[in-house]
Amino acid sequence: MKKTKIIATLAGIACYVFATPVSASDTLTIYKFYCAQCHGLTGKGDGPNVTKDFPVSPRNFTDAAEMNKLSDADMKNVILDGGPSASKSPMMPPWGKTITGEEADGLIKFLRELCKCEGKKS
Ligand code: HEC
Repeated sequence: MKKTKIIATLAGIACYVFATPVSASDTLTIYKFYCAQCHGLTGKGDGPNVTKDFPVSPRNFTDAAEMNKLSDADMKNVILDGGPSASKSPMMPPWGKTITGEEADGLIKFLRELCKCEGKKS
């Protein structure tokens, strides 16, 4: 009983240490799984879900001029709470129940690499 408790505690510490921050390869997996179908694998907003009937273009993450209008905090808000939280389209879903805040931070870092831009300072 005691031994299992120690092992559980160690596992807990290991999870805590290794879970934050989210690694770049985990971020890529999350991006491919949740974002690429709309924003495209290379971030150009041309994923397979975006057919001619799609009412609004998903943000092109390689467009530095557009991406520079957003601060990291703006992005986190939209990613976790969805388009309407920032008066944007509901076609951008809220991900707050699907991914963690740390995972969102990892995604934002990745999007900054795609746009090669620093974004608006908040
Ligand atoms: C169902 C399609 C869809 C999926 C999946 C999706 N998005 Fe979006 N996203 C959109 C659309 C559409 C917009 C543009 C909304 C607008 O301009 O009104 C958008 C906009 C954005 C923006 C810019 C918001 C702004 O204020 O300009 C960010 C950042 C973003 N998405 C990140 C993500 C991330 C990260 C994921 C994955 C966790 C994701 N999106 C998944 C459709 C999607």
